[in-house]
Order: sequence, then structure tokens, then C-alpha cells
Amino acid sequence: MRKSKMKNIVTVLLVVVTLFVNVVGCTKSTDTTESKPNVENGTTNSDTKAKDSIQVGIVLPTKDEPRWIQDQTRFSAILDEAGFTYQILFSQGSSATEKSNVETLVSKGIKVLIICPQDTSAVGAAVQLAKDAGVKVIGYDRLITGTDALDYNVGFNSESVGVAQGQYLIDNATGTGNPLYLYAGALSDENAFVFFKGAWSVLQPKIADGTFVIKNSEEAKKVQDILELTREQMASILGQITTDWDFNVAKSKAEAHLTSARAADKGGVYVLAPNDGTARAIADVFAIDKDVTSYVITGQDAEKASIQYVIDGKQSMTVLKDTRMLTDAAVAMAKQILNNEKVVVNSEYDNGAKKVPMNQLPVLSVTKDTVKEYIFDSGYYEASEFTGLQ
Ligand code: BGC
Repeated sequence: MRKSKMKNIVTVLLVVVTLFVNVVGCTKSTDTTESKPNVENGTTNSDTKAKDSIQVGIVLPTKDEPRWIQDQTRFSAILDEAGFTYQILFSQGSSATEKSNVETLVSKGIKVLIICPQDTSAVGAAVQLAKDAGVKVIGYDRLITGTDALDYNVGFNSESVGVAQGQYLIDNATGTGNPLYLYAGALSDENAFVFFKGAWSVLQPKIADGTFVIKNSEEAKKVQDILELTREQMASILGQITTDWDFNVAKSKAEAHLTSARAADKGGVYVLAPNDGTARAIADVFAIDKDVTSYVITGQDAEKASIQYVIDGKQSMTVLKDTRMLTDAAVAMAKQILNNEKVVVNSEYDNGAKKVPMNQLPVLSVTKDTVKEYIFDSGYYEASEFTGLQ
């Protein structure tokens, strides 16, 4: 196993304290039909063939990442408990499917749409469509841009995710000239920019002072002396280091980078990986390169498989974005809307067309040293589901 210099530092990031409203009790339910899980490409608890209307529609980006399945499972549980009628649909990486999912839900009379977009800008048309039908729209996790039809957002502080990742690499580096490999999320996802922005805000001074040397992005090297990048500069870097949020893209990019790198560009390396799925794919590639003597690699989402990787020392850290908090916050907001109550938010973000009221949630850095407290003691996962724990 490779040496991984994880420090006993618990980074409790962020920050904006959230007035967190748990969903209690029930709201009026328009449908009492029995639960019918796992219809076609999603979940519903109402009989979709019946004329009965659904209160809450949820659209998630893909079933192909454990992250979104976890959200789906949790949504079903709390919406059932709260007594809402709902349907959850997946867009499977397609903005066209996403739009038709929204049309389907609107045709079923939803009052609230909770949507995590496939493409955070292209989704504007679907958001407008819902708005025009009188539906209140809550952006979920990803920051929807360029539309004034969006009503609210619930999500995490994405900049702090990137800061946590970058800071972890810094805290585990000594000396100068440490090889740094950068990877990012999809260009179609505004969050990918925000994660990178956060990471760059702490990494850039450490690149400028020689602690790290970028090995896989000419575009990043070009601007390595600039702390605050323009959108265009960031887009050029992301264009080069994007994984498209796809494990296979991440894997083949990492392979290509290590094939073209000299042995001198390897040794003890540092890898900014944007999320867990891509981190595992990239880590597996770095782990088998004979010239890589050790690697420190970041992640995000605290997916089960990555918690096992962290325990095994194959992934150095992940960022916990507690889906319990996120789904609770989204459902609390939906409940406030359905009950004509004041919608509780704690911040806002500028999406280019309006300032969107947002309920922003904190994140936690999970390492081998904090996994017990944040993941097991908090009940996020059962320790018995993992191996290698004393
Ligand atoms: C989410 C991450 C997720 C990624 C890929 C981002 O927008 O914030 O949690 O890993 O998309 O799905």
C-alpha cells in the first residue's frame, strides 16, 4: 500500500450556519394510492395512471452515479414520511430527456419541482416551462445559471468543497517541486467551475511559490501566477482537465497523462480529483504506475466505495455532502411552498439573471482519521458495511 500522509486534522468547513428545518408531520396529500417504487426510470408513490395529481416532482441527472441514487432513496423515504405525493425521474445525461421529464411532471399537476440539472445552463428552458405552468422551481445541488424563472436553490457551499480538496493536498505536501495533476468536473456543470475556483484559491499560491508543479495542464500553467481567474481562463483549464464527471474519461485521461509524463514528473504525486467516482478511477491508474511512488488524491461525495478506498489508503480524502441534510432541506422548502409559508433561506447566489435565494449547507472533510466520527458515529453508513476497520 502506498504511503499516504494523512494528518490528524479535522477540517470542519464552512460556514454558513443553516437554520435547518426538518420535515415533521404531514401535509395534505392529494393521493393515497399505494407506493409503487422503481417505475421505469424513477420512483413514484402515486399511481401514475390515475388522474390524481402529484404535488412534488423531482428530476435528478443520472442513475449511473451512486451519488444520485442515494439522493433518490432518501427523497423517497422522507417524502413518504411527510405524506407528499411525488415522482422522481432521471435525465440520464440528456437535457432533452430532462425537459421531457419536466413536461411529464408538469402534466401531472406538480406544484413544486426540485431539479438537479444535467446541464446547468441548458436547463433554463425546462425551468421556464415549469414556471409558466405556475410551478415553483427549486434548484437542487447544482447551481442553475442564466434564468430568472428559478425560484430557490438548496445546495452545499461548493467553493468550500474545492478549498477542502486543495487544502488537503497542501497540508500533506512538504518541500518544493511536488508534481501536481489537476482534474475537474463537466464543463456543462456550473458546480465544476465553483469547485475548481475554490481549489485554485488555495493551490495557486502554492504553485506560485514552487511547492507544487503542474504536470498535466498547459492551460493551467499559463495562468499559474494569477490568483483570480476569469471565466474564460477557467474554461480553458477545465476544457483540458475535464472528466465530464465520467469514470471512463477520468481513467483514460489519467492513463494518457502518465504515459506522456517522464519518470521525473512522477514520484510522490498530488492529484486534485473532483469527485469520488473520478477519484477512484484516477487513483487506480496512479496506483499501478511503477514510477509513482506515492500519491495523495482528493474526492467528493463520501460514496460508499470511496469510504472503503479511504479506509484502505487508496483514496486520501473525500468531502461529505450529507445527503440527509440536502434532501431534508429540499423537502422542507417544498413543504413551506405547499403550505404557503415563508421559505427559509440563509444566502443567495447570482445566477447571471437574478439573485437566487438559497439554503446553503456545510461540508466536512473525511479522512482515515475522521471517518469514524463523520461517517459511522453520525449514522451516515454502518461500519459493518466496510472491511479493514479495527
Ligand atoms: C455534484 C457532485 C457530483 C457531481 C457529479 C456535482 O454537480 O455537486 O456531488 O459528484 O456533480 O455528478
